[in-house]
Amino acid sequence: MDVSLGAELAYLFSSVLFVVGLKRLQSPATARGGNRLAALAMLIAIVATLVDNQVLNWTGIAAGMVVGSLIGGLAARTVKMTDMPQLVGIFNGFGGGASALVAAAELVRVQSTNIDLGLGDGFTIAISCLIGTVTFSGSFVAFGKLQGVVSGNPITFPLQKTLSALLFLTILVLGTSMMGVFEIGALPALTVFSVFTAIALLLGVLLVIPIGGADMPVVISLLNSYSGLAASAAGFVIGNNVLIISGALVGAAGLILTMIMCKAMNRSLANVAFGAFGGETSSAAQIGSGDQTARSVDAEGAAMILAYAQSVVVVPGYGLAVAQAQHELRKAMDNLEERGVDVKYAIHPVAGRMPGHMNVLLAEADVPYDKLFDLDEINEDFGRTDVVLVVGANDVVNPEAHNPESVIAGMPILDVDKAKSVIIMKRSLSPGFAGIDNPLFYMGHSLMFFGDAKSSMTDLVREVREA
Ligand code: TAP
Repeated sequence: MDVSLGAELAYLFSSVLFVVGLKRLQSPATARGGNRLAALAMLIAIVATLVDNQVLNWTGIAAGMVVGSLIGGLAARTVKMTDMPQLVGIFNGFGGGASALVAAAELVRVQSTNIDLGLGDGFTIAISCLIGTVTFSGSFVAFGKLQGVVSGNPITFPLQKTLSALLFLTILVLGTSMMGVFEIGALPALTVFSVFTAIALLLGVLLVIPIGGADMPVVISLLNSYSGLAASAAGFVIGNNVLIISGALVGAAGLILTMIMCKAMNRSLANVAFGAFGGETSSAAQIGSGDQTARSVDAEGAAMILAYAQSVVVVPGYGLAVAQAQHELRKAMDNLEERGVDVKYAIHPVAGRMPGHMNVLLAEADVPYDKLFDLDEINEDFGRTDVVLVVGANDVVNPEAHNPESVIAGMPILDVDKAKSVIIMKRSLSPGFAGIDNPLFYMGHSLMFFGDAKSSMTDLVREVREA
């Protein structure tokens, strides 16, 4: 594709905006602006491409943009916070599918000119179609697992890995033939491409079904990275620089996020992909408090302890999101601050079920960003903290991580057991995602505040006011 100087300059400007937008996503305070900047960059890139290609059918393009914007805007506005990974999953899938379609369209265009695909074109079309199609089908399986349409348990069958390896080998053979290295009988290129695409679709399904539902956020982040790579490859196919750059940015960002999540869980990517960890069955494992007893406290008792503390650190977890207790939590903490208590929030990188889950939840309740502290920033403080209030968190505060025999051995945790006292708000002594008991519940300075986090927090707000 020949690109005019004006379009190239617009692409360069868009690319710079993408980088700045991405940088601004680093902090919750600037993230919204960063997102708008990146969206503007995308609009500039689209308009530049359309003008440069002298598109005649503006009505069709405009109709597509309006319908797409309506669907995207409606979906983003109505989705529940806990369903966000599913939405991202679907968007990734469509991104991958779009890249595969671009590759297919280019193949059809080249074929219609009766020119054979060269090594370079064949390679870029094959790679774009492969990654895009795997992302498409893989993302929809990930969506199905999170939505409960497909079983959240790892789905495995005999010789599954062998089948995947064989399919991958077939893909390699077909892809090499598409590059014009050799011909498969008298098969037309479009037939080879169709078989190639069908196998890639199957591969995407086979790659995701053996992974447990609870690991889907990691898988979705990885597929997000794939969708970027597919877009980048599609950029090479049609010779579009802004697509190459934006795709590479998405690819790198998705991979970095995947690695951060794996590190915070102290698991390798291979363990996530092949470990069959965190399925619905794992929650029954390793429970049992033996003869240990946990002491409990009611709203009135918890309010007294909190109201007479000098410093309180809140540790939110998945249960806060399930109960949607963030607004009540904010009210309770506001009341404590009015009484002169110093309140902070400790955020573990994998608390909840998706990256930034707790940040988003607390931002919804307008908790000021400067009260949120990352694990590295706050871990030293627990020894000097009067009370830690754990709200629906479990694994991220489990001292078992220090036990080399534990399944969560080595996972970085918030050292809340070092605080003078700990109040843990959850419904029972049941384990969390990792399916293991938590010795924190039975420690001498721990108190269990049993109940749904929202109703417990409502009671706490009332009692703190009266304390
Ligand atoms: P978990 O360890 O999963 O514990 C959450 C706790 O919330 C449960 O023990 C549950 O106890 C409680 N809970 C559930 N509903 C509740 C409600 N309505 N009211 C009060 N409590 C409720 O959560 P965490 O500490 O946030 O740790 C996250 C885990 O997920 C980690 O193991 C992490 O590796 C994993 N993970 C995270 C991510 C990301 S990206 N964040 C991705 C994949 C996996 P009860 O049933 O007793 O109430």
